[in-house]
Amino acid sequence: MRTRVAIIGAGPAGPLLSHMLHLAGIDSVVLETRDRAYVEARQRAGVVEHGAAELLQRVGLGERMEREGIVHSGIELRFSGHSHRVDFTDLCGRTVRIWAQTEIVKDLVARRQADGGQILFGAQATAIEDAKGDRPKVHFVRKGSHQVLECDYVAACDGFHGIGRRSLPRQAVRTFDRLHPFSWLGVLADVAPSSDELIYARHERGFALHSLRSEHVSRLYLQVPNDTDPAQWSDERIWDELSERMALPGWELKQGPIIDKSLTPMRSFVTEPMSHGRLYLAGDTAHIVPPTGAKGLNLALNDVSLPAQAFIALYTHGDHEPLQEYSNTALRRVWRAEHFSAWMTHLLHTFEDAFENRLQHDHLEFLASSRAASTQLAENYTGIPHL
Ligand code: APR
Ligand code: PHB
Repeated sequence: MRTRVAIIGAGPAGPLLSHMLHLAGIDSVVLETRDRAYVEARQRAGVVEHGAAELLQRVGLGERMEREGIVHSGIELRFSGHSHRVDFTDLCGRTVRIWAQTEIVKDLVARRQADGGQILFGAQATAIEDAKGDRPKVHFVRKGSHQVLECDYVAACDGFHGIGRRSLPRQAVRTFDRLHPFSWLGVLADVAPSSDELIYARHERGFALHSLRSEHVSRLYLQVPNDTDPAQWSDERIWDELSERMALPGWELKQGPIIDKSLTPMRSFVTEPMSHGRLYLAGDTAHIVPPTGAKGLNLALNDVSLPAQAFIALYTHGDHEPLQEYSNTALRRVWRAEHFSAWMTHLLHTFEDAFENRLQHDHLEFLASSRAASTQLAENYTGIPHL
């Protein structure tokens, strides 16, 4: 089996790269361990930055997002019993879309299949051979049989636990890693959202976030200790805790059946460089952000738009430079997102340290009173265009 670009992973990153290459007439094959139903149902992120939404529109994948996604022009910060709205449109002229990662993946997979693209579900990549040579190979197992995919280039879009990052020789990479001292207990609830906009709430009992998936489905999160077992949290306890952490006079949290519960560890992680020979890393395999800044999905989409353009420059104009520059270019946005995500996390979560908590309170007061400080948040949240 042979293709030009072998892509590992069918989260949002892999199929988007495959689709963008297809638009330029460059063939690729996507290998995905799981089955289609699994990747389409996995609950993940839900906020698409201004630029990432434009990217999806540009490559013909924006139609359902435009129709069914919800444009948000601000977020609400809640702390010390009051509320402050950060107005994105006013502060930086950009917005975000509420559009679930599951929907992006569904559209991508359907589109690749309609275009005759190859996404091999149930195909687990086991090794990347000869990344430094001219003819790399990806070994994979499908339906119990070992197969080899020969290619010009390998794009590893196989998430944090994939083989992509681990295929780089240890001496060729540097990693930066921080596990934050709390996790998020996330729930999906069959109830209309209690607010038109996302609510980021800082409370002495811990952080809480109110998000949504649609006009009928709410997505909510609670800061919890790292060793939390979601099964130990009854629905009643979750609703009580959310209500208390987000309490505001005259506002009520709507409750309904909880249809999904999961725990998300809070990690900041970067691998440098994001390439080695003919192997390129994109998305979660190369970097992880804590979800407070809603950046993981956006980084993954942005990462793959770079090699897509770079492969097009190479195959259509013989220009190697964008591919050589991929890691440097991608890492500029990655580090901006790492800083913003760690900053938002630090701003809103409760720590053991009383001094730290007092500083946070002052910082939030400053944000609420300073247009310059709010603009910084708005610019980063909606995505900085030139990066
Ligand atoms: N062979 C084939 N597929 C693999 C392998 C392997 N060895 N290892 C992992 N995969 C698949 C996983 O099953 C998964 O479907 O790679 C895919 C990686 O997808 P994601 O984890 O969604 O990663 P990515 O496309 O980079 O998207 C990042 O996902 O975790 C969220 O918040 C994050 O929104 C961000 C996005
Ligand atoms: C979500 O809707 O899942 C979500 C929204 C905002 C975040 C993180 C997650 O910061």
